[in-house]
Amino acid sequence: MGKETNGVLARTSDDEVIKKQEIQEAQANMWKFVFGFTEMAVIKCAIELGIADFLEENNNNEEVISLNQLSNALGCCSSSLYRILRFLINRGIFKETSTKNGEIGYVQTPLSRLLIKEGGNSMAAFLLFESSPVMLAPWHNLTARISSKDNGRPAFDAAHGKDVWKYAEADPGHSNLLNSAMACDARVAVSAIINDCPEIFKGVNTMVDVGGGDGTTLRLLIESFPWINGINYDLPHVASVAPHANGVVHVGGDMFNYVPKADVAFLMWVLHDWGDEECIQILTKCREAIPKDKGKVIILEAIIGEKEENIIRGSNNEKLKDVGLMLDMVMMAHTSNGKERTSKEWAYVLNAAGFSRHTITHINAVQSVIQAYPS
Ligand SMILES: C[S@@+](CC[C@H](N)C(=O)[O-])C[C@H]1O[C@@H](n2cnc3c(N)ncnc32)[C@H](O)[C@@H]1O
Repeated sequence: MGKETNGVLARTSDDEVIKKQEIQEAQANMWKFVFGFTEMAVIKCAIELGIADFLEENNNNEEVISLNQLSNALGCCSSSLYRILRFLINRGIFKETSTKNGEIGYVQTPLSRLLIKEGGNSMAAFLLFESSPVMLAPWHNLTARISSKDNGRPAFDAAHGKDVWKYAEADPGHSNLLNSAMACDARVAVSAIINDCPEIFKGVNTMVDVGGGDGTTLRLLIESFPWINGINYDLPHVASVAPHANGVVHVGGDMFNYVPKADVAFLMWVLHDWGDEECIQILTKCREAIPKDKGKVIILEAIIGEKEENIIRGSNNEKLKDVGLMLDMVMMAHTSNGKERTSKEWAYVLNAAGFSRHTITHINAVQSVIQAYPS
């Protein structure tokens, strides 16, 4: 009996310890969410100051850049710059080390290299776009948006009086920010396509990139698959300022009305901006643009995993899965009806638009590759 009592007492106290640990862990996690914005804000500051650019230009001979050198070069208050760097270093962005003279110094890390303003893998433009006041304002309207049975006024419209595309048309500076951000992702996604599924472009003579932005995607694809003739198709205000690229013709137009004819219609991060009915309209226009016998549509989009799905995408699988869920929230804040879709939801819009067969290939990117064939 005594033993049993002891047993109960011991169990109770173990339970209490576990409960206390769980509460402490929950509190520590909640602090991360409370101050989650600090990461975006401080990384934005680092990009604007050009910390990664200066280190990259001057770290050449593996020379460590001292805090003094850095603050003088960037025209910054040394003690504030030290605190900014301490925060970032704690997250693997930059590394603190000592100079030859024993002063505090810094070097780049794989993460900090992504903050260089220009460059192959840079994600700086994406962060500057998402952290711009224009893109942050709609988040304050998220609750109002969903606090109505049939979805309230889109959060972006409520903040700015028009949708994201009309806003970009009226504000060339913002349009440029948007196009640069998309080009940033395009460089990452296209390199994954080229590595993981180059065979999908075999025998493709003409390809139209619908909603292709500034043409970065087509330019990079044609560099690797030079037999493709590319049509970069986007709204007139985007196509008219897109830079020249060999093998690419820029055409302005509205994909809801018309899509230029080609062997393949390519859509990356376009359909997730729209609701199902709009996707069916766009895909129908794409189906009409390609040959019925040998044409196809290539779609690059995130696929939200369903419980029964076992998506294998390599070591980044879990992290990329969460990016898909974050993007779904971004669609809710920034577009009128856009959303990320599960494979079943993709099957629905594709079938409704007249594509009887499709395949899904997972690549080492946020997006997967869907190839759809007309009936
Ligand atoms: C999220 S961006 C994707 C850009 C590019 N595909 C990429 O992934 O880098 C969506 C693109 O769709 C374009 N777009 C929006 N509405 C359009 C329409 N009605 N007709 C053609 N393009 C449109 C936008 O201008 C923008 O460039």
